[in-house]
Amino acid sequence: MNIRTIDWKNNSVRIIDQTRLPQKLVYININKLEGLCRAIKILQVRGAPALGAAAALGVYLGVRNYPGSDWPGFSRKLSAVAKHIAESRPTARNLFWGIERACLAALRNNQLPVAKIKQIILAEGKKIMQEDASSCRRIGFYGAKLLKHNSRVLTICNAGILATVDYGTALGVIYSACTQGKKIKVFSCETRPLLQGSRLSTWELYKKGVDVTMIADNTAASLMAEGKVDLVITGADRIAANGDSANKIGTSNLAILCQYHKIPFYIAAPVSTFDFNIKSGKDIKIEMRNSREITSILFKKEISPSGANVLNPAFDVTASHLISGIITDKGIIRPPYIKNINRISKGNKCV
Ligand code: MRU
Repeated sequence: MNIRTIDWKNNSVRIIDQTRLPQKLVYININKLEGLCRAIKILQVRGAPALGAAAALGVYLGVRNYPGSDWPGFSRKLSAVAKHIAESRPTARNLFWGIERACLAALRNNQLPVAKIKQIILAEGKKIMQEDASSCRRIGFYGAKLLKHNSRVLTICNAGILATVDYGTALGVIYSACTQGKKIKVFSCETRPLLQGSRLSTWELYKKGVDVTMIADNTAASLMAEGKVDLVITGADRIAANGDSANKIGTSNLAILCQYHKIPFYIAAPVSTFDFNIKSGKDIKIEMRNSREITSILFKKEISPSGANVLNPAFDVTASHLISGIITDKGIIRPPYIKNINRISKGNKCV
């Protein structure tokens, strides 16, 4: 199965509507900034790297009909569009990185006619998509070395094709190992409340012919106790300079379980997910989402008394001391994280 989560087609952003999976594989074309921001908010497009590409292409959607030809006016429009996209979701670093890349490309060329600058912004969005495709494959290449023939990997949420342009980070590691001929068994946590694990990861792994078993989130501990998990690999939404990593709510539970059961716990993410400006996970803004996501099953059937207090953080932060390594497109970063992440921030490869 070869699919693309996000693309630029017919003057529109074409995405797979992930709210329709696994029942239907539906592509939608978005040609307005508002539509794109809504798609991000309701998770039609989601996953940190895919959000980076969506954000950059969104900048183009937002400015392309700007009627003026003056840089000062265009630059004010650009800032307003950037601010609007930045308000769609707070946690994934890639979303802000995508906006910054598009705006910087414009700024660097501000001596050119506005019509040309618009095309440069679009080209930057396309470049981000190309880069994501190759950086995920590099993550796969480095990460596959951690997997042996018959390794049993547990993962949460979706850090696969559907969270990136076309390959995946955590699942990219699995795809890469499978391509090398290794037989890999995957346990996919369902990922309450929005079920990215069962609806998306299990779907794409199954379609790719990988041996995948879906589990309820609370099954992970007993599987580990039975010795059925060799390692855990998850994605990340934002990684601080000390290695603390935000990812889907429930990820830190798994890392703590791994420490108890002496199972390696890995994060897989491109360098664009690092936030070198924040010292630790304490500075990561965690998105709080609508309570209906947990008071109902996918907004259809109510499962709690109406009016009860509800807390619905979308992400948690895994402390870096629980992380065995961070698989990036520049190699695997090992502790000591502050020193080794600092090296990466300067454009170096991992040692
Ligand atoms: O709320 P989501 O579905 O956008 O959350 C996504 C995740 O938590 C992923 O694991 C993360 O973005 C990494 S994707 C390669």
